[in-house]
Amino acid sequence: MNDDEKTTEAPPPQPVDRREFLSTTWKVLGVALIVEAGWTSYDILNPKPAVGFGGTVDAGPVEDFLTEGTVKYFLDGRFYVTQFQGGLRALFQKCPHLGCKVGDCNTAGESAGFRCPCHGSQYNVIGEYLSGPAPRGMDRFPISIENGHVMVDTSSVVEGPARGVLTGPTEPPTSCGSGA
Ligand code: FES
Repeated sequence: MNDDEKTTEAPPPQPVDRREFLSTTWKVLGVALIVEAGWTSYDILNPKPAVGFGGTVDAGPVEDFLTEGTVKYFLDGRFYVTQFQGGLRALFQKCPHLGCKVGDCNTAGESAGFRCPCHGSQYNVIGEYLSGPAPRGMDRFPISIENGHVMVDTSSVVEGPARGVLTGPTEPPTSCGSGA
């Protein structure tokens, strides 16, 4: 072996100190644990907004509801939006009796109210109870207007008005399709 070979020889590897290795490993694991816990908390506290039923549903521009007696059905939100004397209501399709889908009754393109196909409960155009075994009027969802659109919050159901509360039409629906 000559002198050149001696100078290029790599130094022997230093043995890893066991205590230092364990300390570094614990630090890395600790940081990973903190990051994971932080992400999990963020994910729980900031749920992504639900799309469709269970979240806020865009029922379209306010201009769609300017005609008196307008009723529009929204399958993805499971509700009807009705306009009566300038007021908008989002009525849950689920009958408060036993949960069937309440049908929309139409007369000349405008709803005269709602009728449940299961046991015949009838409601006026704003979902107030008219007749049948239902214990109250149709349940509803909160509405807000955002950027000119009707936004319906289907995450919270508001119980319908009690029997006997009648501020809208008192006559029963005159014609009903299957609706269900
Ligand atoms: S479920 Fe609607 S009247 Fe019974």
